[in-house]
Amino acid sequence: MTRLVFVLFFFFSSAIGFSNMQDNTQDLDRQVRKFMEEQRGKWRDLNVPEADGKALHDIIVQRGYTRALEIGTSTGYSGTWIAWALAKTGGKLITVEIDKYRYNEAVANFREAGLSKYVDARLGNAHEIVPALDGPFDFVFCDADKEWYVNYLKAVLPKLTKGGCFAAHNVSEQSGRGSGGFRSGRGGWGGENADYLEYARSVKSLETKILSISGSGGLAVSYKIN
Ligand SMILES: C[S@@+](CC[C@H](N)C(=O)[O-])C[C@H]1O[C@@H](n2cnc3c(N)ncnc32)[C@H](O)[C@@H]1O
Repeated sequence: MTRLVFVLFFFFSSAIGFSNMQDNTQDLDRQVRKFMEEQRGKWRDLNVPEADGKALHDIIVQRGYTRALEIGTSTGYSGTWIAWALAKTGGKLITVEIDKYRYNEAVANFREAGLSKYVDARLGNAHEIVPALDGPFDFVFCDADKEWYVNYLKAVLPKLTKGGCFAAHNVSEQSGRGSGGFRSGRGGWGGENADYLEYARSVKSLETKILSISGSGGLAVSYKIN
């Protein structure tokens, strides 16, 4: 009899715990959606287009990533998408921004979205902060100073887990004047950040492709295959 009471108690408290957990998840989801709706069209600080933010979110959820790093927080739009995904996978984001005003805005935005506990926002120069991070990471979003992308990749690669993803924004392979490309050092017309793309493609442990997301700034996605 005592054992039956114990089993029933355990069963009901687990069921209540599970249903509370579901309620919390749904509450958070509602809060983030509301925040995103209210802020739609108001992001003014070099933030990614909505389609790119959603793509980052979906990659994380589909692959179950939990240890994320963002380089270039700005006011926290892509960070909100990433943290929203991590709230679903049980992960956490470290995000780095050098500009104090944007950093403060981002922290306030993460709070308003209800996502603060999934974000460790750091103020400072990513050139110094990123190489000093312990890792490991399974998802990295690089969206800061473009001329430093290769250095960021070199710094993070040893800390990227197998199967992990390094996504770099504003990278494309379009060529030709007027297509967002630029005159490359090699004399031809390259896509945006063509030098970064060339480097990423030369790394044997990475498989790199460009996601063609309509209206986006171009997203180069590299998966670590070994
Ligand atoms: C394109 S914006 C990032 C947009 C952001 N990912 C979003 O979608 O909301 C680039 C940001 O990188 C920051 N940044 C540039 N160089 C940096 C550095 N060395 N360390 C940290 N942040 C840097 C800039 O201040 C700027 O806010």
